[in-house]
Amino acid sequence: MGKEPKELWTEVDHFFEGLLLVPDPVMDAVSRSAVEAGLPPIAVSPAQGKLLHLLARIAGAKKILELGTLAGYSTIWMARAVVPGGRVVTLEADPKHAEVSRKNFAAAGLAEVIELRLGKAIESLPRLAAEGAGPFDLIFIDADKANIPEYYNWAKKLSHPGTVIVIDNVVREGAVTDPSNKDPDVQGVRRLHEMLAEESRAPRPGVAATTIQTVGVKGYDGFTIARIAES
Ligand code: SAH
Ligand code: DHB
Ligand code: MG
Repeated sequence: MGKEPKELWTEVDHFFEGLLLVPDPVMDAVSRSAVEAGLPPIAVSPAQGKLLHLLARIAGAKKILELGTLAGYSTIWMARAVVPGGRVVTLEADPKHAEVSRKNFAAAGLAEVIELRLGKAIESLPRLAAEGAGPFDLIFIDADKANIPEYYNWAKKLSHPGTVIVIDNVVREGAVTDPSNKDPDVQGVRRLHEMLAEESRAPRPGVAATTIQTVGVKGYDGFTIARIAES
């Protein structure tokens, strides 16, 4: 009997983690806190967390915005990447998730770097814009999936030329290609790609984007990476 695909993907993820990710008691404690609080096991994987960290480093990010905090696992990966004096703003709707993640930010010594805003992202985003909180150098969209098109529009408003926008969970085990799928999450990621397609093909493209399918400990999914163009 061969291995189930997910079993193999998980082993391979663990192989690379063992080689490329240094033991990290703080991150391990964040993961444990999520389990202990009964939060869903949907944080980015360690390898994906490090990818977000590397993207932030490559971009020289000083200001990062995240939609969807959960226990703060991805938040901490990114907060550790900002240049000195940098900040991460993370938006979370669930008070319990906010409480767990705020404890984790303090334990990680990042309470001064990370600002969590409790509330629905669709309400926090216009407030951030009104306050002039942007532009952000990196924006990670990882909250509810049905609203991804709206979140992408807000992300653009909070961007500058060169801002990197990463959107998680856009492949949905391949369901993204099915135009008849009625799942609002699938419709959200389909609409995102229609928007990106239209913008990419404009005479002066507003964005350059690619979507990468992923397998690993979280199964089969994928993420989009977009870069806002010079205006
Ligand atoms: N980025 C996290 C995982 C986020 S899971 C990580 O990788 O570690 C998605 C999170 O989005 C959950 O905590 C959920 O409560 C939150 N969420 C769902 N709908 C939301 C909304 N409308 N506004 C803000 N946060 C929302
Ligand atoms: C799921 C995975 C995610 O990365 C996320 O942000 C939300 C949900 C999931 O597998 O259900
Ligand atoms: Mg996600």
